[in-house]
Amino acid sequence: MNLILLGPPGSGKGTQASAIAKTYGIPELSTGAMLREAADAGSEMGLWAKQIMDRGELVSDEVVVNIFAERIKQSDCANGFILDGFPRTLEQAAFLDKLLKEQDNPLDLVLELKVDFNQLVERIVGRFTCATCGEGYHDRFKIPKVSCVCDVCQGMAFKRRADDNAETVRTRLMAYYRETAPLIGYYFCKECLRVVDGMEEIDLVAGHVQEILKDYTQDSKTPAH
Ligand code: AP5
Ligand code: MG
Repeated sequence: MNLILLGPPGSGKGTQASAIAKTYGIPELSTGAMLREAADAGSEMGLWAKQIMDRGELVSDEVVVNIFAERIKQSDCANGFILDGFPRTLEQAAFLDKLLKEQDNPLDLVLELKVDFNQLVERIVGRFTCATCGEGYHDRFKIPKVSCVCDVCQGMAFKRRADDNAETVRTRLMAYYRETAPLIGYYFCKECLRVVDGMEEIDLVAGHVQEILKDYTQDSKTPAH
């Protein structure tokens, strides 16, 4: 199953991608996470990209397409993948189409997560992750079961993203509506778009996603054009 999660910052792409990856045993490919890893590793590209990410702007298509193309070649993507945050422009979508066509590996589905503006800001500003295993949390919507202890790995160190602040959020949302939202129409016209109400609680959204995915893991699936 080849799947794209589309939605504005804070809509729950990473949260739902992790849940789907666990259920179906396919990798989640987040270009945001790849860029943050490159920045943490201190590479020239990573440090350059970090400045752009911290401003809430999009990194250039050329750079993102290159890191994505390297990642998707890896063997764990052979049985499918979940794309989180890629493609993000019409140029990136065209690149992905070409790549998948060359590999005779069609896209199955694009899931659009819809969330109201105020909720997006609240989710982003309250987000934190386990510094050890990366499990995602939220100050209000998903707090660790034991205070300051990760539910998954029992780690006690947590971190927040440099771009998760009220000022940068607006720039990120503008970038989404200017550059990425046109992909909703693009995939709608390819008849592979399904819309999910992302305003409900995390587990309820996951339930809706699972319902949709059932259709695509059975023979009745309708391949994208
Ligand atoms: P990226 O890392 O992709 O960030 P983003 O798109 O801004 O999205 P987020 O990760 O902020 O949100 P999410 O939808 O994953 O939400 P999450 O599940 O964490 O990109 C970062 C930057 O990298 C970009 O700004 C750009 O500079 C660059 N970049 C990356 N890809 C690029 C590309 N292709 N081209 C160019 N530049 C690129 O949830 C958020 C919070 O809400 C969490 O705390 C979670 O616990 C909580 N939550 C989730 N779901 C719910 C729910 N249903 N109810 C209540 N709380 C919820
Ligand atoms: Mg994310």
